Amino acid sequence: MSAKPAPTDVDIHELIAGRWSPRAFADKPVDRAHLRRLLEAARWAPSSNNLQPWRFIVFDRHRDEAVFLRAFETLAPSNQNWNATVPVLICVTASTLTPKGEPNRTATYDTGAAAMALVLQAHATGLATHQMGGFDRDAFRAAFSVPEDAQLIAMIAIGHHGDASLLDEALREREAAPRARRALGETAFEGAWGTAFD
Ligand SMILES: Cc1cc2nc3c(=O)[nH]c(=O)nc-3n(C[C@H](O)[C@H](O)[C@H](O)COP(=O)(O)O)c2cc1C
Repeated sequence: MSAKPAPTDVDIHELIAGRWSPRAFADKPVDRAHLRRLLEAARWAPSSNNLQPWRFIVFDRHRDEAVFLRAFETLAPSNQNWNATVPVLICVTASTLTPKGEPNRTATYDTGAAAMALVLQAHATGLATHQMGGFDRDAFRAAFSVPEDAQLIAMIAIGHHGDASLLDEALREREAAPRARRALGETAFEGAWGTAFD
């Protein structure tokens, strides 16, 4: 299953409705030019004072398998399961201090915007992405010498859509489950907290 468009209430752009988080990935490399394009999309995200707090660490199984596996091993076991064929992992970090050493209060907001640009560019390029919070941040920080002020936000699995029938039964069910979101009126308020928009 390579497409699972969001059943939106209102028509929205395919780029947004069409992006989703599959677990079936093909055992196939990602073209380096495509990878560069995703990172370029992230680079042009907006950020408070243009501080660009994000940093990405790329692990390409087909470039350096030993280093890739060190990153893979930090994934939670439940994520390692379906990442077995994923060719690229990207770790997303946010620098929590400004150049003056003060707290950057929008670092994670800005970094999320950059990650979203990356995954949307991936979808536009025909690639699948799946973001993950489930990884051992302490182990990752130690293994890759990440400085203390860089918050480890997420890992992103990137690759080509694969054959969902090869997943185990529990994952196949999750893959086929309908996509759902909280209702718009519970998400967007107007004028006061709790007053549904429209
Ligand atoms: C920051 C973040 C962390 C996530 N962590 C995990 C994870 O550890 N494992 C996993 O299978 N999915 C993870 N997901 C995927 C979400 O479960 C998924 O985005 C959500 O269910 C909505 O599905 P959709 O992306 O297909 O619309 C994560 C997503 C985000 C944005």
